Amino acid sequence: MGIYMIDMILMIVGQGSIILPKKEYNATAVKIISIILVIPNHKSMKIAFFSTKSYDREFFNHYVSTHEIIYFEARLGSQTVNLTAGCDAVCVFVNDRLNAAIIGELKKNGIKLIALRCAGFNNVDLEAAKANNIKVVRVPAYSPHAVAEHAVALILTLNRKTHKAYNRVREGNFSLERLTGFDLYGRTVGVIGTGKIGQAFCDIMLGFGCRVLAFDLLANRELTGKGVEYLPLIDVLQQSDIISLHCPLNEQTKHIINNQTLQMMKDGVMLINTSRGALINTADIIGSLKTGKVGYLGLDVYEQEEKIFFKDLSENVIQDDMIMRLISFPNVLITSHQGFFTEEALTQIAQTTLENADAFEAGLPLKNAVV
Ligand code: NAI
Repeated sequence: MGIYMIDMILMIVGQGSIILPKKEYNATAVKIISIILVIPNHKSMKIAFFSTKSYDREFFNHYVSTHEIIYFEARLGSQTVNLTAGCDAVCVFVNDRLNAAIIGELKKNGIKLIALRCAGFNNVDLEAAKANNIKVVRVPAYSPHAVAEHAVALILTLNRKTHKAYNRVREGNFSLERLTGFDLYGRTVGVIGTGKIGQAFCDIMLGFGCRVLAFDLLANRELTGKGVEYLPLIDVLQQSDIISLHCPLNEQTKHIINNQTLQMMKDGVMLINTSRGALINTADIIGSLKTGKVGYLGLDVYEQEEKIFFKDLSENVIQDDMIMRLISFPNVLITSHQGFFTEEALTQIAQTTLENADAFEAGLPLKNAVV
C-alpha cells in the first residue's frame, strides 16, 4: 500500500492524471490524494463523450482521471452539438460525423480538442478543424491483433460454416449437407494495406500455410522477409482466393472494390472487409453476389453503417434495403463493427485517449495528433 501511494503521488504530480487501473489501488487513498494534490494545482478539462455505450463507460471509469467526463449515448450531430456548451473537448467514435458545420459549432462552444476513440479519422473534416484551431487526436493503434483476428474469424466462419452448424446441432440436425468448406492451407490470400492490422493479418495467414500476396503504397520489409509477395493491385486481385481489406478510407481508396475491380477477381472469391464500409461499392458487390462472382462476403463494416450499427433494431422496420439484401444471402456474414471489441483494445483505447487529453491540457507535444 505504501509503495503504491508513493507511486501514485509521483504520477499525479508528473502527469496530472493517473493512467492506471483503479483496481490496483485502494479507492479511498486515490480520492484523498486527488483532493490533496490534484485539485489545488490542476485544472481539469470537461470532456463530452458521444456515442457511448455501457462498455465505454466501464473501460473509461476503470481509470482515475482528473478530467470531468460527461457521457452521452447520442451521436454528435446538429441535434446534439449544443450539449458541448461549457466543455473543453469532445471525445467521439467512428460514426460521429464531424463536418465543417459541426466543427464550426464546436468552436463557438469553446471546444479546443477532438479526441477520437478510434484509429480512422475519415469522419472528421480535418481542414475545418485546422481552420478553427481545434486539435484532433486519435488512438493510432489499439491491438491490431483484435481486428486481424476478427477478419480471420469471418474467414473461418464463412468457410467452415460454424454458425450454421451451431444452429443445426441445437435443433437436433446433425447432417453435414451443404457445410463443405475448403482447406486454407495452400490457398492464396490477397491483403490490401499492410499497416499494423494488415501485418498482423498476414502473419496469421502465413501461419495457416497460405501464399500471401499484398498491395500497399509501401512494401513492409519485415513481411517480405517472411515470404509475403508485394504485387500490383491488379495481380493481387486476379490471383487471390481470399481478399482482405486493411487500408484506410480516403479519396484514393473509396470504392476500391467496384464492378471493374470485381471483374478482375477469381470466380467465387472470398472478400473480407474489416476496414471501412465505403471501400466497397455496396450496389456493385450485391450484383457480384447475385452472379456468383463473389462466393463469400464477410463484412465488419458497411457503407451506411452509421444509421444501423451499434443499435438494437430487432423490433424496428429497417429502412436500409441494401443491408437487408446483403443479409438475405446465405454466403454473406455481417458483424456490426466489432473488430476492435476485445478487452485489450478497449483498455488501450481508454488509456491512450486519456493520455492524449492529458498531453493536450499540459501543452505537451501531441504524439497522436492528426491535426
Ligand atoms: P495503418 O495506418 O497502420 O495501415 C494502413 C496501411 O494502408 C498502410 O500501410 C498504408 O500505406 C496503406 N495504404 C494507404 N493507402 C493505400 C492505398 N491507396 N492502397 C493500398 N494501401 C494503402 O492502419 P491500421 O491500424 O492497420 O488500420 C487500417 C484500417 O483498419 C483503419 O484505417 C481503419 O479504417 C480500420 N480499422 C477497423 C477497425 C474495426 O473495428 N473494424 C478498428 C481499427 C481500424
